[in-house]
Amino acid sequence: MKTILITGCNRGIGFGLVKHLCENYGQMENIFATCRNPQNAQELTSLAQNNSNVKILKTDLNNSEDISNLAKTVTDILGTRGLDVLVNNAGISSKFTRLPMVKEKDLTDHFRVNVIAPILLAKHLIPVLKNGKNEGESSGIIVNISSVLGSIQENTTGGYYPYRTSKAAINAATRSMSLDLREHKIVAVALHPGWIKTDMGGKQAPFTVEEASGNLINFIRNISMEHNGLFLTHEGKQLPW
Ligand SMILES: NC(=O)c1ccc[n+]([C@@H]2O[C@H](COP(=O)([O-])OP(=O)(O)OC[C@H]3O[C@@H](n4cnc5c(N)ncnc54)[C@H](OP(=O)(O)O)[C@@H]3O)[C@@H](O)[C@H]2O)c1
Repeated sequence: MKTILITGCNRGIGFGLVKHLCENYGQMENIFATCRNPQNAQELTSLAQNNSNVKILKTDLNNSEDISNLAKTVTDILGTRGLDVLVNNAGISSKFTRLPMVKEKDLTDHFRVNVIAPILLAKHLIPVLKNGKNEGESSGIIVNISSVLGSIQENTTGGYYPYRTSKAAINAATRSMSLDLREHKIVAVALHPGWIKTDMGGKQAPFTVEEASGNLINFIRNISMEHNGLFLTHEGKQLPW
């Protein structure tokens, strides 16, 4: 793995992944890190200033033109080199909601960021993912950051309509990607990153961003064709759909 694109890198897990790669993987050729407002992303900007392989790409995933521009920029820079890993990490989660409290806008916002954006980005990046290189036989890897809350079988407490349904939908999309792109040896996995101390995960979460980032990068580096189309934890445990 030498070229990677990660969405949502100004804070949380996305920032942790970029930082971990900078500190531990000097051989990375390109780390494309998207964020909505680079001018407010001091820590990320400072990482990019100190690591010439980090390129910050301003992208609002609510905007489909931004998504296609992002893919074009990455494709132009990489040329035939290829993209080894796409991490669709950016996501949103509103608070716990019972059915009477569900708002239409909340549902559509979640679907736009958590489902539509990752699907469009994967679609636009197929040509460079085809040229990616990873463990074993596989070319590019698509990691859709999902959540155990998207598991229908594991849902025993209800609520969270926008988040649960959007993560179940990205899981369904991951499975389709794994089948549609198999002929190009592109691998697609839905990955539950664990419960992590971020703005979304909250202070009670057991893992720090630093711990989780190391675990996630270790796992991503070892993804191969045998993981294609699975819903997994960072420990490689298979989760029920
Ligand atoms: N933390 C956990 O315990 C946990 C557990 C399971 C799954 N996950 C998943 O892990 C991923 C990362 O979560 P996190 O905990 O790091 O969350 P976070 O701290 O809330 O960070 C979310 C990231 O997504 C970005 N983002 C949101 N909407 C965006 C948009 N329209 N365009 C571009 N970027 C946007 C945010 O950018 P802005 O700052 O601009 O909003 C931010 O960089 C998510 O997919 C989440 O569902 C997290």
